[in-house]
Amino acid sequence: MKEKNRLKGKKTGSGLFIVFEGIDGSGKSTQVELLARRLRRRGLEVVTLREPTGGKWGQKIRELSLTSGSITPEEELELFIRDRKENVSKNIRPALKAGKTVILDRYYYSTLAYQGARGLPLEEIWRRQLRFAVVPDLVFILDVPVSTGLRRIKDRPVIYGHFEEKEYLKQVRKIFLSFRDPQCLVVDGRPAPAVIHRKIWSHFLKKFPELK
Ligand code: ADP
Ligand code: TYD
Repeated sequence: MKEKNRLKGKKTGSGLFIVFEGIDGSGKSTQVELLARRLRRRGLEVVTLREPTGGKWGQKIRELSLTSGSITPEEELELFIRDRKENVSKNIRPALKAGKTVILDRYYYSTLAYQGARGLPLEEIWRRQLRFAVVPDLVFILDVPVSTGLRRIKDRPVIYGHFEEKEYLKQVRKIFLSFRDPQCLVVDGRPAPAVIHRKIWSHFLKKFPELK
């Protein structure tokens, strides 16, 4: 509880906002859970969220992606942004305001990387997010070769059509690796989950030593 109260005093008086990014199969969901468990043991109240969400826009994205090719990159961008806007106002901001730690599986970096790889200008994608997005405290970009990511998710039902094509994902990975925001850290996603988690945790403690 002590740690929680101290962290509440961070910057604008809100909870911590942590984001995991990376291509499909890079291990995001696995690391989200490991970090959430660790932080809960430290007494923090943790909310885990993901995008696309289960809300109306997220559902629409899933429905439309069943019929690959039926949607333009601009329409795709519009849907992801609507979904995110709703997530920010309904889930992220209220949780942070209540002092909770939010760990989010995919955020605006995914839009820059995936819709950027579809040919949309990164500046335009970025401009549209700036209007409403909350800037995260820390962003872990899990990096694996595309072949590794695809091998890991080969049994997953393919519902995203072009999202999982190899050449496309190579471009997506390249964009993820080009981010230079100070809060972004690229982490090698190839070792075992526990090894990656230790690295993430050690970086986390460097940034928030009060959690030691
Ligand atoms: P993502 O959320 O990025 O798509 P997941 O965490 O769902 O990735 O992992 C995809 C698959 O790979 C799962 O079956 C998971 O158990 C496995 N996996 C996750 N991390 C690793 C890792 N570091 N090494 C090997 N397999 C992993
Ligand atoms: P994913 O995290 O794989 O969702 P699920 O676990 O429910 O399958 O995300 C679905 C796909 O959506 C993934 O291939 C990346 C893509 N995506 C975008 O193209 N743009 C975005 O802004 C987001 C958040 C995801």
